Amino acid sequence: MKKICVGILGLGTVGSGVVNLLNEQRELIKRRLGVEVCVSKIADRSVFTKKKMARGVAPENMGTDFEAVIDAPEVHVIAELIGGTDDARRHILRAIENSKPVVTANKAVLAVHGEEIFAAAEKAGCPLGFEASVAGGIPIVRNLREAFAADKIERLAGILNGTCNYILSRMTEMGADFSETLERAQELGYAEADPAFDIDGVDASHKIAILANLAYGTPVDLEDYHTEGIRSITSVDIDIAKELGYRIKLIAMAQEREGKLDIRVHPTMLPDSHPLSQVGGVYNAVAVSGVNAGPQVFIGKGAGSEATASAVVGDIIEVARWLKNGGDSRIPAAAFLPDQRARLDILPPREISTRFYVRFAALDKPGVLSRISGVFGEHDISLETVVQKGRADEDGYARLVLLTHKATEENMQNALGEISRLDVVQPAYALVRVESDGMAFM
Ligand code: HSE
Repeated sequence: MKKICVGILGLGTVGSGVVNLLNEQRELIKRRLGVEVCVSKIADRSVFTKKKMARGVAPENMGTDFEAVIDAPEVHVIAELIGGTDDARRHILRAIENSKPVVTANKAVLAVHGEEIFAAAEKAGCPLGFEASVAGGIPIVRNLREAFAADKIERLAGILNGTCNYILSRMTEMGADFSETLERAQELGYAEADPAFDIDGVDASHKIAILANLAYGTPVDLEDYHTEGIRSITSVDIDIAKELGYRIKLIAMAQEREGKLDIRVHPTMLPDSHPLSQVGGVYNAVAVSGVNAGPQVFIGKGAGSEATASAVVGDIIEVARWLKNGGDSRIPAAAFLPDQRARLDILPPREISTRFYVRFAALDKPGVLSRISGVFGEHDISLETVVQKGRADEDGYARLVLLTHKATEENMQNALGEISRLDVVQPAYALVRVESDGMAFM
């Protein structure tokens, strides 16, 4: 094989970054791989407005027909960069049916249709690269698949959504409120015009499902675990957290506990000293703790054309090496041999124990605190810290902040239901889960 030809599906931010990188680093890639890698065909829904983005590709090799690219005999590898679930699934499966290796940056399609795609790739004996699907330029998929192959993963915890991390970091630094910060993120192009997938935690949820799948050899169904975004986080809670020595981050985590998978995505108060607390702006980070390797943290760019293209092209080179060497020594796409993967039950959210931060608006008068703490006590929840922040407002309500010891979600929700009905407390409250033990490095 003298040349490896790539067919690109989707010429958006990532697709054009991939075309540029393959052009710019042609010589470097050849020195590392031994053969040239080039883009031979591109399909995009609106390719005619994007021809300038595909330097080095002849206009007749660009069009809107995705299947023509997938089926073209001269195309050896398909890079699926359109995003979304349905069309992407169809294109990936078609490429695999044609025995063409696929590289994708698409976390949604893998989180939703991963089992079908992994099985099809395995059956066809086709490699599947998806490094760019989680945390952009951070090589976490490859590390879990290869470098940690001998280690049992104790825990994964990550900042996997740059938009949320930007919003929370800026709220922390500037004291700005959520909607104003979201608008700024949109102006800067960090958040989508419809930012729901990012700020409601769905994007991070897709990514932790993929990582948990690789770490524990289990399929993961998104609807079985708790996913919560950052819409409810206020600058008031961020400031109080800061005073208490914590940062609020959107953390996606996965851990095996007594044969079950504790997996969840939610805003989390982390101690200032935790390495993930120091990761600001749009950066992503993944903390992995292996029983033998110990804790490690990977920090880097989780999005953007260049960083994501670096991960996609890294996969293309890996796949090209496989093609060049006649398909030997393939690493299983999902890290475990297909017949060695086994579904772990997901720990029901109500059974998960964490510490909690709760803020109420409570009447500033004698006996109120004992009524509230009495309800917590009745639900087997032990309080660690209770602070009244500031003076009562003109209606007589003061901010009452409580940090609890570990309690189950079920007990906490039952206690909150009761407390919010007390006549001395306003019904609305703020709740943030707190992680300090069990996190790597603590
Ligand atoms: N929208 C994602 C983020 C990047 O904000 O991190 C792509 O996965």
